[in-house]
Amino acid sequence: VTERTLQGFRVAPGGSLRGRVRVPGDKSISHRAIMLGSIAEGETTVEGFLEGADALATLAACRAMGVSIEGPDDGWLRIGGVGLHGLRAPAAPLDLGNAGTAMRLFCGLLAGQAFDSVLTGDASLSARPMRRVIEPLTAMGAEIDAEPGGRAPLRIRGGRALRGLDYAMPMASAQVKSCLLLAGLYASGETAVTEPAPSRDHTERMLEAFGCRLRRDGQRVVLGAERRLRATRIVVPGDLSSAAFLIVGACIAAGADLVIEGVGINPTRTGVLDILSLMGADIELRHRREQGAEPVADIHVRSVRLSGITIPERLVPLAIDEFPILFIAAACATGTTVLRGAEELRVKESDRIAVMAEGLVRLGVRAEATADGMVIHGCDLRDDPHAPVFDGGVIDSHGDHRIAMAFAMAALRARAPIRISDTANVATSFPGFDRLVTRAGLGLEVLDEGSGAPA
Ligand code: S3P
Repeated sequence: VTERTLQGFRVAPGGSLRGRVRVPGDKSISHRAIMLGSIAEGETTVEGFLEGADALATLAACRAMGVSIEGPDDGWLRIGGVGLHGLRAPAAPLDLGNAGTAMRLFCGLLAGQAFDSVLTGDASLSARPMRRVIEPLTAMGAEIDAEPGGRAPLRIRGGRALRGLDYAMPMASAQVKSCLLLAGLYASGETAVTEPAPSRDHTERMLEAFGCRLRRDGQRVVLGAERRLRATRIVVPGDLSSAAFLIVGACIAAGADLVIEGVGINPTRTGVLDILSLMGADIELRHRREQGAEPVADIHVRSVRLSGITIPERLVPLAIDEFPILFIAAACATGTTVLRGAEELRVKESDRIAVMAEGLVRLGVRAEATADGMVIHGCDLRDDPHAPVFDGGVIDSHGDHRIAMAFAMAALRARAPIRISDTANVATSFPGFDRLVTRAGLGLEVLDEGSGAPA
């Protein structure tokens, strides 16, 4: 997973998005399904699992700790849960590739094991901050060594007696919250986490589906004494973070009319829909239903004239992965869009503020990066609401899947082709992106960057 192949996209200007599509399974839920299924008692089945590199790294890590997992077969898995204390020492370091969620959640899960373990990742993951989990885990009694600056590889010492902690998180991070709840499964006493603002709650929902008791009180969640996980059946909804590229694409492309089926609409994830609605988007949620522990709907989007807004800060953690594509939407909107309070974007798979500002400016958009957000000056399109707004050009994704997919969608409103380099990591969250968007109407071609020829 850490190898980077030379792959790029060339996207023809114009086109539209039409028809009905289905996006791959939710990445956050797929990671959690493997981890919780592995430490549950009995056989857990999973449907709709994301067969992307990130979730597959989690799957491989659990196998390396002795869990037998059948599949994945078209999103289907059977996990032979080994129980809370059944994991075995891995023979080698666990390589988590590009997956921040895997590293932070495993850190909590492994801090409570009887054996030592080492977590490694690719260059991007090895540059991301891990102190945010190491510090509270250390306060619980864990022993974790990191590289200078609190970076991976992380060496986790086993056989430590963990104590429950009452922790107030300095940032709204579902990864930190989930890490501590997983460590809490192995700790004496109660573990409580308070977040400054709501973040995605898939771990809490899934722990409950496995039979754990949680108490929630506003922004505080407490893991109770019932810690046994009993196997269950998990149906993973389509990933709203992947659907977001198509949703924005259908907002900005002339003549678009697209339905994305079976997408998770957990209210701790739907900030992107709220922000686009404030910008004037025409989005309809149809056939709302519950799928296991998560709400799901079909999302119908039609093209529209968007307006710039000041993004309400309370929506930032609820849309944290969607800002690359929301910046593309803002560039296509009339007036100015302002984002503040989003400094977390600087420590994602890339510095998404710097990398998006660089790309937008390169394509002729007036965008200014700020310490904690961005100001994007949209366009005045009174005559033709879908006139091109982006110049053609070459974009460096910095190996960040969401940057690559965001600029691919920009081509829908470009004057000339957009070429994006370093796109192999799109497979971390959205395998088959190129085929799916091509079928919906985007003129995307995959290139072998070595020669510049189609792959
Ligand atoms: C995730 C939480 C978020 C998000 C990431 C997935 C999760 O990260 O950006 O893509 O699955 O818990 P933070 O917890 O760092 O905000």
